[in-house]
Amino acid sequence: QKQKTVLDFQKMKAAGERIGVLTCYDYPTALIMDGCGIDMILVGDSVGVVVAGYDNTLPVTMDEMIYHTRAVMRARPKAFVVADLPYLSYQIDLASARLNAGRLVKDGGAAAVKLEGGAHVADTISAICDMDIPVMAHIGLTPQSLHRMGGFKVQGKGEEQADRIFQDALAVEKAGAFSVVLEGIPMKLAQRISAELSIPTIGIGAGPHCDGQVLVLHDILGLCSKYSPKFVKRYADLGPVISEAVASYIAEVKAGTFPEEKHSFS
Ligand code: KIV
Ligand code: NA
Repeated sequence: QKQKTVLDFQKMKAAGERIGVLTCYDYPTALIMDGCGIDMILVGDSVGVVVAGYDNTLPVTMDEMIYHTRAVMRARPKAFVVADLPYLSYQIDLASARLNAGRLVKDGGAAAVKLEGGAHVADTISAICDMDIPVMAHIGLTPQSLHRMGGFKVQGKGEEQADRIFQDALAVEKAGAFSVVLEGIPMKLAQRISAELSIPTIGIGAGPHCDGQVLVLHDILGLCSKYSPKFVKRYADLGPVISEAVASYIAEVKAGTFPEEKHSFS
């Protein structure tokens, strides 16, 4: 396996080869995932929900993102690693956006950063690209906009709304994004955007016509019991597997059957 770079994703789009992306937040999982040949790893701010137990991604901090990015990078993945800029790390002004993007690369070790928003963050995307950090955009349903959207609802349903998202896609490409996540939009709109843009689109809840797909790891493993949106496919059900292991351990400790002599020092 060769180290994946931004150039690979451009080539993959040109060749019609789909890009496989998953979120990852720690070292052992990064080792496993990279061993499977994942193309891109996203250290998403979804870590706040699926690992830290927050109700949404808004409380996630820069320090938390750096901690998880560092953990993933210790696996020395061949995959291209993108780290999310958390809420309030890029919205205030361009200087703090650039500083925080730089921290994810310099302190976290990520190769690129992702931020949410379309036309209204075009300047921010350009400013970060200008410091030679590849930027992944994220449009449509943007979880950090939870309160404006009035919940996690599919975006771009009406014609006017769809056109606004289409314009967002054009704007982030023009601003220099190397790729864009399309989240929670009708598949026809995602198809139109994917055909129009020269940069690869990575879909989540955006149908099959994107250039790649991303899902949250805990969702595909059945480790997030709170809610399971329609766009998630569960590839494993690890909850019961963990339950069984933990229950067996407790039972053996109580019965005195663990540890045995082979687990003990003489
Ligand atoms: O934080 C995250 O996991 C994400 C993906 C769902 C795109 O932003
Ligand atoms: Na995110």
